[in-house]
Amino acid sequence: MNGSKSPRDPVAPHIAGLPKSGIRDFFNLVAERSDVISLGIGEPDFQTPWRVRERAIEAIERGHTRYTANLGTIALRKAVADYTRERFGGGYDWRDEVLVTVGVSEGLDTALRAILSPGDEVLYHEPCFVAYAPIVRMAHATPVLVETRMENGFKLRREDLEAAVTPRTRALLVNFPNNPTGAALTEADTRMLADFVTRHDLLLVTDEVYSELTYDIPRTSVIALPGMKERTIFLNGFSKAWSMTGFRLGYACAPAPVIDAMMKIHQYTMMCASSVSQAAGVEAAQNAIADIGEMRRSYALRRNFTAARFNEMGLDCRVPEGAFYVFPSIKKTGLSSMDFCVRLLGEESVACVPGTAFGACGEGFFRACYATGMDDLKEAMNRIEAFVARLRK
Ligand SMILES: Cc1ncc(COP(=O)(O)O)c(C=O)c1O
Repeated sequence: MNGSKSPRDPVAPHIAGLPKSGIRDFFNLVAERSDVISLGIGEPDFQTPWRVRERAIEAIERGHTRYTANLGTIALRKAVADYTRERFGGGYDWRDEVLVTVGVSEGLDTALRAILSPGDEVLYHEPCFVAYAPIVRMAHATPVLVETRMENGFKLRREDLEAAVTPRTRALLVNFPNNPTGAALTEADTRMLADFVTRHDLLLVTDEVYSELTYDIPRTSVIALPGMKERTIFLNGFSKAWSMTGFRLGYACAPAPVIDAMMKIHQYTMMCASSVSQAAGVEAAQNAIADIGEMRRSYALRRNFTAARFNEMGLDCRVPEGAFYVFPSIKKTGLSSMDFCVRLLGEESVACVPGTAFGACGEGFFRACYATGMDDLKEAMNRIEAFVARLRK
């Protein structure tokens, strides 16, 4: 009996087929090296505003350490509904159109599982956040790629969307301001997306986790457009703008039947987001908008500096409109994205992420996160310049 039969393959095929995040793969190379300047992980270098941390401490002191309502605390849902109306023109009822999630990560997973059935297709754009294609597959649906290109400002073009849509398309998943390209949308761009999803009767899942971080162009969201609330799942969170990545706090705003469906999944998998984080989130949404402004001003300076330095050293680099990433082209060097980043790390101890971590069409680019102190940023640019100069010889 013993050993007569090998055990069944324990892993489901659709999970076995998923790649691991290319970012984490790459950063295993960085681990245990203290000399490295990292422009790698997409995380702000700022501390969470003190007033927000103070609320978390107070919540613990007062013993607010139990489960909350599955949808989230009333205080946070009200704060999110107010914030979303004031900053994005959304009109959501805190009672049944807001769900507090464990980061935008959980919001994405829950949203897709709530709306997708096997056989459905989801349009998404690359280069993009590493999770998108995997979470569509985890929901037993098929991701359909639409490329964005540098010459179009890494924005979606109507003709590319039209070429990818089929009768099986259920939703369009978008992220602007974008990780990794920094591209952000104008109001005219959002109108094009709204018109496209409406004409094809699609749902729109919009990940706006960088929405507070736009430079030179006004903040804009599709949820302000007439008729869009009915077909949109708006995902946002506190990680990036308030520098609260470790709090793991986000939210979804959508029509009540969608929130109700998402709530079932959330209820059975998460129960609720952390009570302490939710207390901090109320303070962030209500009273820490000025803190975001300060961080945004600092990011804008760093963005200008970083993009200018890359262009000076001969790497074509757009000045992105949002988020905290630049995505320079290394095509002129003749190296692949992976070789460029591995050699840069080995020879100059600077960590950047190969563009291919964000999809095959990221080949020929790398991502540098400028949410890093100015001194480190200057030193990193000097080192990259030396490396690029050596490549030219
Ligand atoms: C586009 C995008 N969406 C979602 C997330 C995850 O955010 P959260 O920390 O809220 O889960 C990230 C994190 O890098 C991101 O870049």
